[in-house]
Amino acid sequence: MTVTDIRNKPKVVVLRWGHRPKRDARLTTHVALTARALGASGFILADIEDPKIKVTIEKVVQNWGGPFYFEMGKPWKQAIKEWRDKGGIVVHLTAYGENIETSDVLKRIKATGKDIMVIVGSQKVPKEFFSEEVSDFNVAIGNQPHSECASLAVFLDRLFEGKELTRTFENAKLMIIPQKRGKKVLKIMEQHVKQGEEI
Ligand SMILES: C[S@@+](CC[C@H](N)C(=O)[O-])C[C@H]1O[C@@H](n2cnc3c(N)ncnc32)[C@H](O)[C@@H]1O
Repeated sequence: MTVTDIRNKPKVVVLRWGHRPKRDARLTTHVALTARALGASGFILADIEDPKIKVTIEKVVQNWGGPFYFEMGKPWKQAIKEWRDKGGIVVHLTAYGENIETSDVLKRIKATGKDIMVIVGSQKVPKEFFSEEVSDFNVAIGNQPHSECASLAVFLDRLFEGKELTRTFENAKLMIIPQKRGKKVLKIMEQHVKQGEEI
């Protein structure tokens, strides 16, 4: 399958902090699905394990394609340190940050040319998230409080300038054929290539 992707764009990983099992399960799942669908290559559920969410996301990747990885349980400080040690930058999405529309913050982020870890919260985040030791940029998707899912979607869409919406996912078993009305889903059969068999 051909892949129309966004490979010349930075690699993005989303770190979700503050997940409360049961209460946040649905929203965390939606944040991970949003990350995948809008161009991120992985998701880290920091500090906590919620295996049900991992199973859900991995099933989506199996059916609808990737690449996209899901990690959980890693302490946030460790995840950020490892990311920064590899040369990546960290963008913390917060209503208190530099407004993505009225400031040049997105231009400055793009100018780094580096891979990006995007942090989204849930409950009130630790103060350190705003500090230079943790985040290179604090970015507001407007300075009104709303949602981690909405802020992530807008950020990724602006970062990738809409190109992530045209992307074809690798190894998908299912693919939606856009319709004016109704639903059309293409089932992509696996090709079994036996030795010596011509394809
Ligand atoms: C529901 S909010 C909770 C915020 C929490 N009450 C606080 O005061 O930090 C959860 C997450 O959504 C994201 N978020 C909400 N509004 C945002 C905005 N306007 N811009 C960027 N991110 C936002 C942030 O990542 C935030 O941690």
